[in-house]
Amino acid sequence: MIDADPAAFYRRILDNLADAVLLFDQHLCLIYINMPGEMLFALSARQVLGARAHNVFALTDSVTEEDLLRVMETGASLTKRNVTLNVQPQPITVNVILTPALDESAPRVLAEVQQVDRHLRISMEEQLMAQQNAARMLLRGLAHEIKNPLGGLRGAAQLLHAELRGEELREYTRIIIDESDRLQLLVDRMLEPNKPPQMSLVNIHRILERVRQLVQVEAPPKVFIQRDYDPSIPPVLGDSDQLIQAILNIVRNAAQAVGKEGTITIRTRIHRQVTLGNRRHALAAKIDIVDDGPGIKPELLGQIFYPMVTGRAEGTGLGLSIAQSLISQHGGLVECASSPGNTVFSIYLPLEKSHE
Ligand SMILES: Nc1ncnc2c1ncn2[C@@H]1O[C@H](COP(=O)(O)OP(=O)(O)OP(=O)(O)O)[C@@H](O)[C@H]1O
Ligand SMILES: [Mg+2]
Repeated sequence: MIDADPAAFYRRILDNLADAVLLFDQHLCLIYINMPGEMLFALSARQVLGARAHNVFALTDSVTEEDLLRVMETGASLTKRNVTLNVQPQPITVNVILTPALDESAPRVLAEVQQVDRHLRISMEEQLMAQQNAARMLLRGLAHEIKNPLGGLRGAAQLLHAELRGEELREYTRIIIDESDRLQLLVDRMLEPNKPPQMSLVNIHRILERVRQLVQVEAPPKVFIQRDYDPSIPPVLGDSDQLIQAILNIVRNAAQAVGKEGTITIRTRIHRQVTLGNRRHALAAKIDIVDDGPGIKPELLGQIFYPMVTGRAEGTGLGLSIAQSLISQHGGLVECASSPGNTVFSIYLPLEKSHE
């Protein structure tokens, strides 16, 4: 059923499309732009309505007024593929589809602008997430299978330990018990996170301060943890224990990477128009954990979010896999970029719509 106000109804549909939609009149002046269009071109409708097509498309390298005229004259649509749109902070690639939109009175041109690299990035991210999830599920299944017999083994070893008289023989049962305990801890970590998040509005800086203090006390004296916070970030809907756990895993890695001496920076910023999973968010909190350690070994870089992938002799390789899983339960995402002396883990968390 269509609303009482059909114009508002159609406007809402257009504003909720993933693609930008622009309409030009016969003088090549912009007479309509939907909300995704305003976001893509980083312009408000108020600023840009009435502007000539060459001004609107000034950010592209290959869409011209001649293209629009040709569509109007021939009545045939035209698609320009892989057009670079030079927007801040970095250029993006788009497809532009120009279609004649005939009005009873005058010809018009409809321009649809689809962001190509966003689609590519989303499908790559989704594929990667699905693979990491499958690996995590496999591991959880395995951990579950190990957990029960392990309890039995430990119990039996304990009984045996009590029965045994000689200290020499007891040494063997002690080894069984200690190793079972070690395995139990590992299995418990593999089964994390095992409860759904308890969501409430939380102050992200309070969580970061907690993590900072925890890591600072563990770290050697010449490891400095700096803060660069944007205090205007509104509260995040999340489970504080789980967020602390996820961020702690990442900051701990940074502290382990820098070793005896180095600097870790925790930075927070607000980001606009972020796509997380397959959802677009007008606002997201971005938390960067930066360290000046040696960087992630190149052969590990593509795999660090998979469980059991580790570059450390004493590592279990579960920290990042758990962090990624906890953050994705919050609708967010963890990314990483690394070169020697500069490793950045970025955590994106969606911000509530009511805070826009
Ligand atoms: N900031 C970093 N700098 C360099 N390498 C890193 C950094 N963070 C992670 N890594 C690499 O990624 C690997 C995987 O990290 P992850 O936290 O998943 O496991 P882990 O630290 O080895 O073990 P665990 O966290 O389970 O004790 C690490 O072993 C390390 O080689
Ligand atoms: Mg770790």
